[in-house]
Amino acid sequence: MSGHLPVLLRETLDVLAVRPEGIYVDGTFGRGGHSKAILQRLGPQGLLLAIDRDPEAVAVARELASRDARLRVEHAPFSRLAELVRRHELEGRVDGLLLDLGVSSPQLDTPERGFGFLWDGPLDMRMNPQSETPGVAAWLAQAGEGEIAEVLRDYGEERHARRIARAILRAREEAPIERTGRLAEIVAAAHPAWEKGKHPATRSFQALRIFVNRELDELDRVLADVEGVLAPGGRLAVISFHSLEDRRVKRFFKRGAKGDELPRGLPVTADQQRPRWRLLNRGLRAGELEVAENPRSRSAVLRAGEKLAYGENG
Ligand SMILES: C[S@@+](CC[C@H](N)C(=O)[O-])C[C@H]1O[C@@H](n2cnc3c(N)ncnc32)[C@H](O)[C@@H]1O
Repeated sequence: MSGHLPVLLRETLDVLAVRPEGIYVDGTFGRGGHSKAILQRLGPQGLLLAIDRDPEAVAVARELASRDARLRVEHAPFSRLAELVRRHELEGRVDGLLLDLGVSSPQLDTPERGFGFLWDGPLDMRMNPQSETPGVAAWLAQAGEGEIAEVLRDYGEERHARRIARAILRAREEAPIERTGRLAEIVAAAHPAWEKGKHPATRSFQALRIFVNRELDELDRVLADVEGVLAPGGRLAVISFHSLEDRRVKRFFKRGAKGDELPRGLPVTADQQRPRWRLLNRGLRAGELEVAENPRSRSAVLRAGEKLAYGENG
């Protein structure tokens, strides 16, 4: 199985400003690239809670934890952050949370996981194959044309969503669509405008992956809970890989740094308008060298902020 090169590693460590006795949460352990670097900076009193919804990532984390008492591991979606942090008695004490969103290289490059259109494999794409929610094949077997088109449009920004959805329905009349290779062929044949240097199924595969893993909902839910989890002065670093995610993260920090915008004329308390976050950057991208070494970093954007201590006003 292939490894995973951590993206924007130095930049992420800079914004997290890891303190040796600090408490950190890595919400997306993956293969532990960022986690291992955090552990290197932690002293014996420090603590790292690693979360991942993928059982293979969790197995790697548990193996590492068996040799390092500072590491705790949870197999869960990060939308359950608040509950997990409470279980570990870390509420309001976390000095830094990292979310390196999306999928890992081993997920993408393992045909059996069904994420990729470059290799043939069972059409699944769930980060947690043990979850009860349907994978792509099961969903495509029963979804309506309108539903499929909406997913391709909303999560893949696919302009030819309706045409592709129609082709999927036609193809499934002939035989169930159960392999990534077959879906890639159906999409390619239906797609009227191939973009240069991009497989015509790229957008559709991204859309279906985001949909079956409820990725945007996961992000919204964790962002809603992050303030309650962090200590005053605690930091949040988020690495996004497409504009649907990055837009949400940007809006979250912008609102937090400005204070809530409330309708005029409503009675508001000073706390509602007070900035709650200090921005640590305006969106960092990987440099040329990193992109050359790791093409996955090309679309990555790192945004980070610090939760202001109560009473500070930025
Ligand atoms: C880009 S990789 C992280 C790579 C990691 N930083 C490293 O250096 O090895 C994303 C990981 O987050 C996990 N993941 C994505 N969304 C998640 C969610 N909502 N809850 C928990 N884990 C999630 C995926 O299973 C994957 O292992």
